[in-house]
Amino acid sequence: MRRVTRVAELRATLDAERRRGRRIGFVPTMGFLHEGHLRLVDEARRRADVIVMSIFVNPLQFGPTEDLARYPRDIEGDAAKAETRGVDVLFVPDDAEVYPHPPRVVVTPRTLAKRWEGAARPGHFEGVLTVVAKLFNMVQPDVAVFGQKDVQQATLVRAMVADLDMPLEIVVTPTVREADGLAMSSRNAYLDGPSRQRALSLSGALRAVERAFQSGERNANALETIARRQLTESGVTDVDYVAIADPTSLEPVAQAAPGTVVALAARIGRTRLIDNVILGSP
Ligand code: PAJ
Repeated sequence: MRRVTRVAELRATLDAERRRGRRIGFVPTMGFLHEGHLRLVDEARRRADVIVMSIFVNPLQFGPTEDLARYPRDIEGDAAKAETRGVDVLFVPDDAEVYPHPPRVVVTPRTLAKRWEGAARPGHFEGVLTVVAKLFNMVQPDVAVFGQKDVQQATLVRAMVADLDMPLEIVVTPTVREADGLAMSSRNAYLDGPSRQRALSLSGALRAVERAFQSGERNANALETIARRQLTESGVTDVDYVAIADPTSLEPVAQAAPGTVVALAARIGRTRLIDNVILGSP
Protein backbone atom coordinates (compact mmCIF):
# COMPACT_ATOMS: atom_id res chain seq x y z
CA MET A 1 0.00 0.00 0.00
CA ARG A 2 1.24 3.43 -0.93
CA ARG A 3 0.61 6.24 1.57
CA VAL A 4 0.45 9.75 0.11
CA THR A 5 -0.19 13.13 1.67
CA ARG A 6 0.05 15.40 -1.38
CA VAL A 7 -2.49 15.86 -4.17
CA ALA A 8 0.30 16.08 -6.76
CA GLU A 9 1.70 12.69 -5.76
CA LEU A 10 -1.79 11.18 -5.64
CA ARG A 11 -2.47 12.43 -9.18
CA ALA A 12 0.85 11.15 -10.52
CA THR A 13 0.27 7.72 -8.96
CA LEU A 14 -3.28 7.40 -10.28
CA ASP A 15 -2.53 8.82 -13.75
CA ALA A 16 -0.04 6.00 -14.21
CA GLU A 17 -2.67 3.41 -13.20
CA ARG A 18 -5.31 4.98 -15.42
CA ARG A 19 -2.93 4.89 -18.41
CA ARG A 20 -2.60 1.15 -17.84
CA GLY A 21 -6.37 0.88 -18.17
CA ARG A 22 -7.07 0.32 -14.50
CA ARG A 23 -10.41 1.31 -12.98
CA ILE A 24 -10.09 3.46 -9.87
CA GLY A 25 -12.35 2.78 -6.87
CA PHE A 26 -12.59 5.32 -4.05
CA VAL A 27 -13.65 5.12 -0.39
CA PRO A 28 -13.66 8.49 1.40
CA THR A 29 -13.50 8.35 5.22
CA MET A 30 -12.61 10.36 8.29
CA GLY A 31 -10.62 7.44 9.69
CA PHE A 32 -10.73 5.57 13.02
CA LEU A 33 -11.60 2.67 10.78
CA HIS A 34 -14.02 -0.08 11.70
CA GLU A 35 -15.57 -2.99 9.84
CA GLY A 36 -18.18 -0.65 8.28
CA HIS A 37 -15.45 1.30 6.48
CA LEU A 38 -13.64 -1.89 5.49
CA ARG A 39 -16.79 -3.37 3.95
CA LEU A 40 -16.81 -0.35 1.62
CA VAL A 41 -13.28 -1.34 0.56
CA ASP A 42 -14.51 -4.88 -0.22
CA GLU A 43 -17.29 -3.41 -2.36
CA ALA A 44 -14.84 -1.10 -4.18
CA ARG A 45 -12.59 -4.13 -4.84
CA ARG A 46 -15.44 -5.90 -6.61
CA ARG A 47 -15.90 -2.92 -8.92
CA ALA A 48 -12.43 -1.52 -9.56
CA ASP A 49 -8.76 -2.50 -9.91
CA VAL A 50 -7.04 0.15 -7.84
CA ILE A 51 -8.55 1.10 -4.48
CA VAL A 52 -7.97 4.54 -3.02
CA MET A 53 -9.06 5.34 0.52
CA SER A 54 -8.87 8.86 1.92
CA ILE A 55 -8.63 9.67 5.60
CA PHE A 56 -9.39 13.31 6.29
CA VAL A 57 -11.28 14.76 9.25
CA ASN A 58 -12.96 17.55 7.34
CA PRO A 59 -13.24 20.69 9.50
CA LEU A 60 -15.73 22.23 7.06
CA GLN A 61 -18.46 19.72 7.97
CA PHE A 62 -18.27 20.23 11.76
CA GLY A 63 -20.33 22.93 13.48
CA PRO A 64 -18.63 25.27 15.98
CA THR A 65 -19.97 23.33 18.98
CA GLU A 66 -19.36 19.86 17.50
CA ASP A 67 -16.67 17.27 18.16
CA LEU A 68 -13.96 18.22 15.63
CA ALA A 69 -11.23 18.63 18.24
CA ARG A 70 -11.94 15.32 19.98
CA TYR A 71 -12.85 13.29 16.89
CA PRO A 72 -11.01 9.96 17.40
CA ARG A 73 -7.83 9.45 15.36
CA ASP A 74 -5.45 6.52 14.94
CA ILE A 75 -3.63 6.90 11.66
CA GLU A 76 -1.13 4.07 12.23
CA GLY A 77 -3.87 1.62 13.25
CA ASP A 78 -5.94 2.76 10.26
CA ALA A 79 -3.05 2.28 7.84
CA ALA A 80 -2.54 -1.29 9.08
CA LYS A 81 -6.26 -2.11 8.69
CA ALA A 82 -6.47 -0.50 5.26
CA GLU A 83 -3.42 -2.36 3.99
CA THR A 84 -4.64 -5.72 5.32
CA ARG A 85 -7.99 -5.17 3.61
CA GLY A 86 -6.40 -4.41 0.25
CA VAL A 87 -6.32 -0.63 -0.08
CA ASP A 88 -3.71 0.26 -2.72
CA VAL A 89 -3.38 3.98 -2.12
CA LEU A 90 -4.07 5.62 1.26
CA PHE A 91 -4.49 9.36 0.84
CA VAL A 92 -4.00 11.26 4.09
CA PRO A 93 -3.81 14.98 3.36
CA ASP A 94 -3.48 17.59 6.09
CA ASP A 95 -5.81 20.58 6.44
CA ALA A 96 -3.51 22.89 4.45
CA GLU A 97 -3.36 20.47 1.52
CA VAL A 98 -7.16 20.35 1.25
CA TYR A 99 -7.85 23.96 2.23
CA PRO A 100 -4.81 26.12 1.37
CA HIS A 101 -7.12 29.08 2.06
CA PRO A 102 -10.73 29.34 3.24
CA PRO A 103 -12.85 28.09 0.32
CA ARG A 104 -14.25 30.83 -1.92
CA VAL A 105 -16.53 28.37 -3.69
CA VAL A 106 -18.54 25.65 -1.97
CA VAL A 107 -21.21 23.10 -2.93
CA THR A 108 -24.52 24.10 -1.34
CA PRO A 109 -27.33 21.56 -1.32
CA ARG A 110 -30.94 22.65 -1.55
CA THR A 111 -34.08 20.69 -0.70
CA LEU A 112 -32.54 17.33 0.24
CA ALA A 113 -30.54 18.98 3.04
CA LYS A 114 -33.43 20.90 4.63
CA ARG A 115 -34.60 18.22 7.03
CA TRP A 116 -33.16 15.67 9.48
CA GLU A 117 -29.35 15.87 9.70
CA GLY A 118 -29.39 19.06 7.65
CA ALA A 119 -31.73 20.77 10.11
CA ALA A 120 -29.89 19.47 13.18
CA ARG A 121 -26.44 20.36 11.81
CA PRO A 122 -26.58 23.67 9.87
CA GLY A 123 -23.88 23.83 7.20
CA HIS A 124 -22.92 20.18 7.70
CA PHE A 125 -23.89 18.96 4.24
CA GLU A 126 -22.33 21.97 2.55
CA GLY A 127 -19.08 20.91 4.22
CA VAL A 128 -19.57 17.27 3.26
CA LEU A 129 -20.43 17.95 -0.39
CA THR A 130 -17.62 20.48 -0.78
CA VAL A 131 -14.98 18.06 0.49
CA VAL A 132 -16.45 15.11 -1.42
CA ALA A 133 -16.44 17.17 -4.65
CA LYS A 134 -12.81 18.16 -3.98
CA LEU A 135 -11.82 14.56 -3.21
CA PHE A 136 -13.57 13.36 -6.38
CA ASN A 137 -11.54 15.90 -8.38
CA MET A 138 -8.31 14.87 -6.67
CA VAL A 139 -8.86 11.11 -7.12
CA GLN A 140 -11.02 11.13 -10.29
CA PRO A 141 -12.44 7.71 -9.45
CA ASP A 142 -14.58 5.58 -11.75
CA VAL A 143 -16.62 4.46 -8.76
CA ALA A 144 -16.96 5.71 -5.17
CA VAL A 145 -18.52 3.72 -2.33
CA PHE A 146 -20.58 5.16 0.54
CA GLY A 147 -22.46 3.61 3.47
CA GLN A 148 -26.22 3.47 3.99
CA LYS A 149 -25.45 4.33 7.63
CA ASP A 150 -25.37 8.00 6.55
CA VAL A 151 -28.47 7.76 4.37
CA GLN A 152 -28.99 11.50 3.84
CA GLN A 153 -25.31 11.97 3.00
CA ALA A 154 -25.47 9.15 0.44
CA THR A 155 -28.62 10.62 -1.10
CA LEU A 156 -27.02 14.06 -1.33
CA VAL A 157 -23.82 12.70 -2.87
CA ARG A 158 -25.88 10.92 -5.52
CA ALA A 159 -27.79 14.15 -6.14
CA MET A 160 -24.57 16.18 -6.44
CA VAL A 161 -23.07 13.71 -8.90
CA ALA A 162 -26.24 13.75 -11.01
CA ASP A 163 -26.91 17.49 -10.87
CA LEU A 164 -23.28 18.56 -11.46
CA ASP A 165 -22.66 15.85 -14.10
CA MET A 166 -19.74 14.27 -12.28
CA PRO A 167 -18.44 11.33 -14.32
CA LEU A 168 -18.42 8.53 -11.76
CA GLU A 169 -20.68 5.84 -10.35
CA ILE A 170 -21.88 5.99 -6.73
CA VAL A 171 -22.47 2.73 -4.88
CA VAL A 172 -24.15 2.57 -1.46
CA THR A 173 -23.70 -0.50 0.76
CA PRO A 174 -25.68 -1.74 3.79
CA THR A 175 -24.95 -0.68 7.36
CA VAL A 176 -22.55 -2.93 9.25
CA ARG A 177 -23.59 -3.61 12.86
CA GLU A 178 -22.06 -5.03 16.01
CA ALA A 179 -23.40 -8.46 17.06
CA ASP A 180 -25.91 -6.75 19.39
CA GLY A 181 -27.26 -4.45 16.65
CA LEU A 182 -25.39 -1.21 17.35
CA ALA A 183 -24.46 0.41 14.04
CA MET A 184 -20.68 0.66 13.80
CA SER A 185 -19.42 4.22 14.05
CA SER A 186 -16.13 5.90 14.86
CA ARG A 187 -18.13 7.88 17.43
CA ASN A 188 -18.97 4.68 19.36
CA ALA A 189 -15.48 5.15 20.81
CA TYR A 190 -16.97 7.96 22.93
CA LEU A 191 -19.39 5.58 24.70
CA ASP A 192 -18.64 4.14 28.15
CA GLY A 193 -20.39 0.95 29.34
CA PRO A 194 -23.74 2.42 30.46
CA SER A 195 -23.91 4.81 27.49
CA ARG A 196 -23.21 1.99 25.07
CA GLN A 197 -26.09 0.05 26.65
CA ARG A 198 -28.42 3.00 26.13
CA ALA A 199 -27.12 3.45 22.57
CA LEU A 200 -28.50 0.01 21.76
CA SER A 201 -31.99 1.51 21.92
CA LEU A 202 -31.40 3.24 18.56
CA SER A 203 -31.15 -0.02 16.64
CA GLY A 204 -33.74 -1.49 19.05
CA ALA A 205 -36.21 1.25 18.13
CA LEU A 206 -35.61 0.66 14.42
CA ARG A 207 -36.16 -3.07 14.87
CA ALA A 208 -39.41 -2.38 16.73
CA VAL A 209 -40.59 -0.24 13.80
CA GLU A 210 -39.61 -2.99 11.35
CA ARG A 211 -41.58 -5.55 13.37
CA ALA A 212 -44.65 -3.30 13.46
CA PHE A 213 -44.34 -2.72 9.71
CA GLN A 214 -44.08 -6.47 9.10
CA SER A 215 -47.21 -6.94 11.22
CA GLY A 216 -49.08 -4.56 8.93
CA GLU A 217 -48.73 -1.14 10.58
CA ARG A 218 -48.43 1.47 7.80
CA ASN A 219 -49.32 4.70 9.61
CA ALA A 220 -46.17 6.82 9.86
CA ASN A 221 -47.27 8.57 13.07
CA ALA A 222 -47.88 5.22 14.73
CA LEU A 223 -44.48 3.93 13.59
CA GLU A 224 -42.77 7.08 14.85
CA THR A 225 -44.50 6.69 18.22
CA ILE A 226 -43.21 3.12 18.50
CA ALA A 227 -39.64 4.30 17.90
CA ARG A 228 -39.90 7.23 20.30
CA ARG A 229 -41.42 5.08 23.04
CA GLN A 230 -38.60 2.56 22.74
CA LEU A 231 -36.00 5.32 23.00
CA THR A 232 -37.67 6.98 25.99
CA GLU A 233 -38.07 3.69 27.84
CA SER A 234 -34.33 3.11 27.47
CA GLY A 235 -33.57 6.51 28.96
CA VAL A 236 -32.72 8.19 25.64
CA THR A 237 -34.60 11.46 25.94
CA ASP A 238 -32.51 13.77 23.75
CA VAL A 239 -33.88 12.76 20.34
CA ASP A 240 -33.16 15.07 17.38
CA TYR A 241 -35.59 13.41 14.99
CA VAL A 242 -37.35 10.22 14.01
CA ALA A 243 -37.86 10.37 10.24
CA ILE A 244 -40.30 8.18 8.32
CA ALA A 245 -39.40 9.33 4.85
CA ASP A 246 -39.50 8.72 1.14
CA PRO A 247 -36.16 7.20 0.07
CA THR A 248 -35.71 9.51 -2.92
CA SER A 249 -36.99 12.88 -1.71
CA LEU A 250 -36.39 12.25 2.01
CA GLU A 251 -39.70 14.04 2.59
CA PRO A 252 -41.88 12.65 5.40
CA VAL A 253 -44.56 10.20 4.33
CA ALA A 254 -47.97 9.70 5.96
CA GLN A 255 -48.11 6.01 5.02
CA ALA A 256 -45.06 3.75 5.06
CA ALA A 257 -44.40 1.34 2.21
CA PRO A 258 -41.61 -1.09 1.31
CA GLY A 259 -38.56 1.10 0.69
CA THR A 260 -39.55 3.79 3.19
CA VAL A 261 -36.58 5.02 5.21
CA VAL A 262 -36.77 5.15 9.00
CA ALA A 263 -33.92 7.29 10.30
CA LEU A 264 -33.19 8.67 13.73
CA ALA A 265 -30.66 10.75 15.61
CA ALA A 266 -30.23 10.99 19.37
CA ARG A 267 -27.75 12.20 21.91
CA ILE A 268 -26.38 9.89 24.58
CA GLY A 269 -24.63 12.26 26.93
CA ARG A 270 -22.33 14.30 24.68
CA THR A 271 -22.32 11.70 21.91
CA ARG A 272 -24.63 12.16 18.96
CA LEU A 273 -25.52 8.94 17.14
CA ILE A 274 -27.54 8.22 13.98
CA ASP A 275 -29.00 5.05 12.51
CA ASN A 276 -31.58 4.04 9.92
CA VAL A 277 -33.29 1.12 8.22
CA ILE A 278 -35.17 0.65 4.98
CA LEU A 279 -38.55 -0.96 5.60
CA GLY A 280 -39.31 -4.21 3.86
CA SER A 281 -35.68 -4.97 3.04
CA PRO A 282 -34.33 -8.44 3.93
P1 PAJ B 1 -17.03 8.55 7.99
O1 PAJ B 1 -18.01 8.82 9.07
O2 PAJ B 1 -15.64 8.14 8.34
O3 PAJ B 1 -17.66 7.46 7.06
C1 PAJ B 1 -17.02 7.08 5.86
C2 PAJ B 1 -17.94 6.16 5.09
O4 PAJ B 1 -18.18 4.99 5.85
C3 PAJ B 1 -19.31 6.80 4.81
O5 PAJ B 1 -19.73 6.48 3.49
C4 PAJ B 1 -20.19 6.13 5.84
O6 PAJ B 1 -21.55 6.07 5.47
C5 PAJ B 1 -19.57 4.75 5.90
N1 PAJ B 1 -19.92 4.07 7.16
C6 PAJ B 1 -19.76 4.52 8.42
N2 PAJ B 1 -20.23 3.62 9.32
C7 PAJ B 1 -20.71 2.58 8.60
C8 PAJ B 1 -21.35 1.35 8.93
N3 PAJ B 1 -21.58 0.99 10.20
N4 PAJ B 1 -21.70 0.52 7.93
C9 PAJ B 1 -21.47 0.87 6.63
N5 PAJ B 1 -20.89 2.02 6.26
C10 PAJ B 1 -20.51 2.86 7.22
O7 PAJ B 1 -19.01 9.94 6.23
C11 PAJ B 1 -17.92 10.47 6.40
O8 PAJ B 1 -16.88 9.85 7.05
C12 PAJ B 1 -17.61 11.85 5.86
O9 PAJ B 1 -18.78 12.64 5.87
C13 PAJ B 1 -16.99 11.85 4.44
C14 PAJ B 1 -17.95 11.24 3.40
C15 PAJ B 1 -15.67 11.08 4.43
C16 PAJ B 1 -16.70 13.31 3.99
O10 PAJ B 1 -15.88 13.94 4.90
